[in-house]
Amino acid sequence: MKYGHFDDVHQEYVITTPKTPLPWINYLGCNEFFSLISNTCGGYTFYKDAKLLRLTRYRYNNVPADINGKYLYIKDGDTVWNPGWQPTKTELDSYECRHGIGYSRFTSSKNGVKASVLSFVPLNDNCEISQLTLTNGSSEDKKLSVFSYVEWCLWNADDDMKNFQRNLSTGEVEVQDSTIYHKTEYRERRNHYAIYSVNTKIDGFDTSRDAFLGAYRGADSPEAVENGKCTNSMASGWSPIASHQINVDLAAGETKTFIFVLGYIENPEDEKWESYGVINKTRAKEMLAKYQTDAQVDEAFAALQAYWKQLLARYTVDSADEKVNRMVNTWNQYQCMVTFNMSRSASYYESGIGRGMGFRDSCQDLLGFVHLIPDRARERIIDIASTQFQDGSAYHQYQPLTKKGNSDIGSGFNDDPLWLIAGTSAYVRETGDTSILTQMVPFDNDMSVAAPLMDHLKRSLDYIINHKGPHNLPLIGRADWNDCLNLNCFSAHPGESFQTFGPSEGPVAESVFIAGMFVKYGEEYAQLCELMGDDTEAARARKEVQAMYDAILKDGWDGDWFVRAYDAYSHKVGSRECREGQIYIEPQGFCVLAGVGVKEGLAEKALNSVKERLDTKYGVMILQPAYTEYHLELGEVSSYPPGYKENAGIFCHNNPWVSIAETVLGRGDRAFEIYRKTCPAYIEDISEIHRTEPYVYSQMVAGKDAKFYGEAKNSWLTGTAAWTFVNISQYILGVYPTHQGLSVDPCIPKGFGDFSITRKFREGIYHIQVKNPQNVEKGVVSMTVDGKAVDGHIIPYEKGKEEYNIVITMG
Ligand code: GLC
Ligand code: GLC
Repeated sequence: MKYGHFDDVHQEYVITTPKTPLPWINYLGCNEFFSLISNTCGGYTFYKDAKLLRLTRYRYNNVPADINGKYLYIKDGDTVWNPGWQPTKTELDSYECRHGIGYSRFTSSKNGVKASVLSFVPLNDNCEISQLTLTNGSSEDKKLSVFSYVEWCLWNADDDMKNFQRNLSTGEVEVQDSTIYHKTEYRERRNHYAIYSVNTKIDGFDTSRDAFLGAYRGADSPEAVENGKCTNSMASGWSPIASHQINVDLAAGETKTFIFVLGYIENPEDEKWESYGVINKTRAKEMLAKYQTDAQVDEAFAALQAYWKQLLARYTVDSADEKVNRMVNTWNQYQCMVTFNMSRSASYYESGIGRGMGFRDSCQDLLGFVHLIPDRARERIIDIASTQFQDGSAYHQYQPLTKKGNSDIGSGFNDDPLWLIAGTSAYVRETGDTSILTQMVPFDNDMSVAAPLMDHLKRSLDYIINHKGPHNLPLIGRADWNDCLNLNCFSAHPGESFQTFGPSEGPVAESVFIAGMFVKYGEEYAQLCELMGDDTEAARARKEVQAMYDAILKDGWDGDWFVRAYDAYSHKVGSRECREGQIYIEPQGFCVLAGVGVKEGLAEKALNSVKERLDTKYGVMILQPAYTEYHLELGEVSSYPPGYKENAGIFCHNNPWVSIAETVLGRGDRAFEIYRKTCPAYIEDISEIHRTEPYVYSQMVAGKDAKFYGEAKNSWLTGTAAWTFVNISQYILGVYPTHQGLSVDPCIPKGFGDFSITRKFREGIYHIQVKNPQNVEKGVVSMTVDGKAVDGHIIPYEKGKEEYNIVITMG
C-alpha cells in the first residue's frame, strides 16, 4: 500500500494523507542552520549542533507521536485547522505534502479555504522561511485568524529536558513590532538569540506557553486560538514560546500571503546590547529585511533550487529502469548529503542529544558525497583526522560544534583507523588533490604534535599491524563496525554501556571483518604511497596485506564461509561450530569485495552461503541463526530480541557490501537483486509493512525471526545511503574513480539494457554511453573516447579537459 507517490519531474515525494504509518520527514538546510520537518509540520530546528544550539523544543517519545513543530492554526468561524493536520487533527477537505530537495510544501483545504505553506532554509542565511498562501475558494467573504506557534528550546537540548529546577526560571523574551525575540541566557554567557517574525502587522502575540495553551491543554487545543485572541503575554521563566495572531479578511476568490521567518542571530561580545538590558537587534533586522516580500522569497527559493540542481547533476543516469534513475539522480544522493550534514546526530530516531559525529560513520558517509562537494569533503577529512591519537587509534565520536573528540566514549573501536584511509583514498581518487596528504594535521586537536595527513594514514595502518591477536588477525577492541559485537565487555548489569564497559580492549578477541578491511584499504594506502613516490612504503604495506590475506585463509575460513571473529577465549564467532550466530554477513561482504578468496574459489562459496542462509525477500540479514539467549561473551548483539538490529535484523548498511562483492564475481543479476530488495523506490508498494519513508533508506529492517518482519526503523541517518550509492554508481553502473581516471566497468542484470551516465569528474564532464548488445552481466570489449578507440576501461584523465564523450561496449 502506498501513502503517496514520486514526482520525478519536480524531484518530490508527494504524500497524500497525513496518516502515514510513521512521521515521514524531510531536512531543510545545507550549511549551518537546519530543520527537521515531518509531513504533519512536526520537527525541530537547530544551529550547527542539535544538542548545544537547539532553537525549538521537540517532545520525543510523546503520545500522540510527533508533537511539536512549527504550527500554523487557521480559525475560520468555529473551525480551527492546520495545513499539516497536526496538532488539531481537524479532518481536512484535501491534504498534500510534497517533500522536495531542501524544502517541503503543504497544500490543504478546509471549508473553501486553501492554505499552502512552503518551508525552506535559504542558502546563506541562518533562518527558516515559511511562506503561507491563503486563498478563499468559496463564494463568501471570510474573516479568518491565523495563529503561529513555536516553542523555544532553552538552547542546550539535553539540559532543557532535565534541569527543570533552573530552567523554569531562566526564560526571557522581547517583543518588538511583529518579531518575537527569544533571549534566554543572553544576559550572561550567550551572545546569540532566536527570532520568530512575520512580514505583517500583527493583531496580538503570546510568548508564554501557559498563556497561549491554557492550563492543562496541549497544542491540539490552544485556549488563545479557541478564544480567537492572543493575550500579549510576556514570558518570564517557565516555557517561552512565540505565537503571532493575524486577522485576515479574505474576500471570495482572494489570495494573501504571509512570510514567517524563524532565525538565529549571533552578536559580537561588545555589540550585545542596544541599551541597558535590551538586546541589539540590528543583525536580526538585517536578516528580516531580506525576506519581506514574495519576490524576495521567490528569489531565495530559486537560488536554493539552482544550488541543488547543479549538485545533483554531478552524477545522473538515464536507464530503462525508472526506479534506478529516481534513486540515483535524486533520492540516494540527497540522503548522502543529509548524512554529510547530520552524521548520526539528529533524526526522528537519533535525538540530537546523544551521539555527535562518528569517526567511522563520517568516513564512510564521505564515500557518498565526495563527488558532490569535494571541498567540504576535504575539510571533513581534516576534522576527522584531527581527532586521531598519535598511536593511530581514534576518538570514536566528536562534537560538530567544537570538533573535539568525546572523551566519555573514547577510543578502542579497532576498525576506526582504517576508515580514515577509505575516506582519504576516495577523496584523492575523486579530486586528484594530493596536497591534502602533505597537509599538517594535529593529533587529538593538539597542533604541537601535528603530522602530514599521509603520516596519519600510516599510523592507521600500523595500528592494525601492531594490534594483532593469537591468529595474527586484528584485535577487535571494543567493537569493530558491528558496535554490538562486544567481545571484551562481559556486562552483566543493566545500564552498563556495552561499548565502553569492562576490560574493553582485550589481547585475544580478533575480528576477521577488520582483516578484510585491512586487505582492501591496505591496498588503497599502497596506491597513495605510490602516488607520493614512496614505493618502499607501498611495498611494505602490500607485504602486510599479503600476510593478512594469508591469515584470513588460514584461520578466518570456516569451510563454507568466512568466520566473523574470535572471542576473548579464542572461540570462533560466526562459525558452524556455534549453536547460534553461525554465519555473519560482514566478513562475507567485506572479504570478497576486498578480493579475498576469489582466486581460491572461496569467495563464490561464501556468497552462495549468504544467499542460502541469510537472504530474505526484504534483504540480507546480518546473521543467522538469531541469538535467542544473552551471551555474556558476545555482548549487545545478543541483547536484542531475535530479528531486530544487529541480532539478525536486515541491517541495510552491509547489504551493499554483499552486492559489491557479487559484482567482483561478475554476477550482475544477483548484485542487482540485493540492491533492489532494500531500495526504497522498489518497496514503496509495501509502505504499510515497511512503514518508514519510501524515499530514503533506513538503518534496519526487521529480519525473519522478528514479530514485525519487514518493518523498518531508523530512517535517514545511516551509512546505507553512502554505501548503496557507491554500490549502484561505482559497481553496478560501474563508474569508479581511479588515480588514473574514471573507470567504467558495469556489472548489471541481464535485460537491464543500454544506458547512459553523465558524470562530473575533476574539471571534466563525462558523457558515457554503455551498450550491451550481447546482454552480458559484466565485461567491457571496447571503449571509445571522443571517437577514438582506447584500450581497457579506464578513461585517461587529461588535466584541464572539460568534456569527454565515451562509448563503452559490453560483451
Ligand atoms: C550504527 C552505527 C555504526 C555501526 C552500526 C552497526 O549504524 O552508527 O557506527 O557501524 O550501527 O553496529
Ligand atoms: C547500539 C545500536 C547500534 C549503534 C550503537 C551506537 O549499539 O544497536 O546500532 O551503532 O548503539 O552506540
